Amino acid sequence: MKKSTFLVIGGAGYIGSHLVKALIEQQEQVVIIDNLSAGSASAVLGGELIVHDFDDREFLDNLFSSKHFDGVFHFASQIVVSESVKDPGKYYRANTAATLTLLEAMRDHKVGPLVFSSTAAVYGEPLYTPIDEQHPTNPLNPYGRSKLMVEHMLADFASAYNQKYIALRYFNAAGADPQARIGESHDPETHLIPLALQAISGKRPPLQLFGQDYATPDGTCIRDYIHVDDLASAHILAIHHLNNGGASGIFNLGSNHGYSVNEVIQTAARVTGKDVPLTYAPRRPGDPASLVADASLAKKTLGWQPKYTDLNQIIEHAWAWEQANS
Ligand code: UFG
Repeated sequence: MKKSTFLVIGGAGYIGSHLVKALIEQQEQVVIIDNLSAGSASAVLGGELIVHDFDDREFLDNLFSSKHFDGVFHFASQIVVSESVKDPGKYYRANTAATLTLLEAMRDHKVGPLVFSSTAAVYGEPLYTPIDEQHPTNPLNPYGRSKLMVEHMLADFASAYNQKYIALRYFNAAGADPQARIGESHDPETHLIPLALQAISGKRPPLQLFGQDYATPDGTCIRDYIHVDDLASAHILAIHHLNNGGASGIFNLGSNHGYSVNEVIQTAARVTGKDVPLTYAPRRPGDPASLVADASLAKKTLGWQPKYTDLNQIIEHAWAWEQANS
């Protein structure tokens, strides 16, 4: 079978690097653009890495004139919700305006289709759970709005210029490469599982548990943790769906199962054999009580089947990566 060539923007970051790994394992040709502002060259396990900002029109014109791509994956973005509230301009520029530059370049060079990293943050405070794609979008912060604006641009470009796309709304990406070659590493790190594991390994102070008075069974927030390798497999199915004539669309990616922060902490303790050093803190502003995906549309339309549905296994992989990485 003829192999394809894919462009992965932000392929040195947490989720992008797991997609690059999966594409390489399928013997696809991969070109990665990453400015390494958040990602790391060592996370790119294969392909050709170009260290550059992606929102440079001249650079994109040269790239698209010199190389054929069978599809583009776009992961590069700013992701810290609290920072987006304090510095919204940074988010609208990096997440929204930069993506417009990419879309226009793709349109003018007839490059496509595009798979875009969106987020459950577009939904805001849920009106019902599990959340399906029909749920109204009402993001609570500039981060969520910067991603939702891109979804609107994608739909408008699809109707005006017939540019095909899939936007994938991730719930809580978690876990690591089962062989512990790559994993989660953000700076600053704001995510629960790495912070809990790094508190255990002594790399960080005790975990602050944000809020014990939510309207949930144990009072702590409920989230839907989905293994990063399962996110990667959904991207590959999405691009094949589009290249095989499938329609553009938006899909949730989650496990359909919610775990409370307390349950995550208990699982981390079970997996590592050590208690998570813990302090109790007030609610973190902007955290919805419960976010659980209804991801049945991705399963039905793309044929997606997550492989790692057990939180123990997700945290085992994250722990192996933490140990390999410290
Ligand atoms: N939490 C703590 N202590 C911490 C970190 C997190 O108690 O030190 C709690 C949070 O309050 C939340 C849960 O753990 O209840 C999960 O928090 P994360 O920061 O790991 O993940 P979020 O659900 O906040 O973030 C995810 C994505 C974001 C996205 C957001 C949308 O990672 O990119 O969902 O709500 F914007």
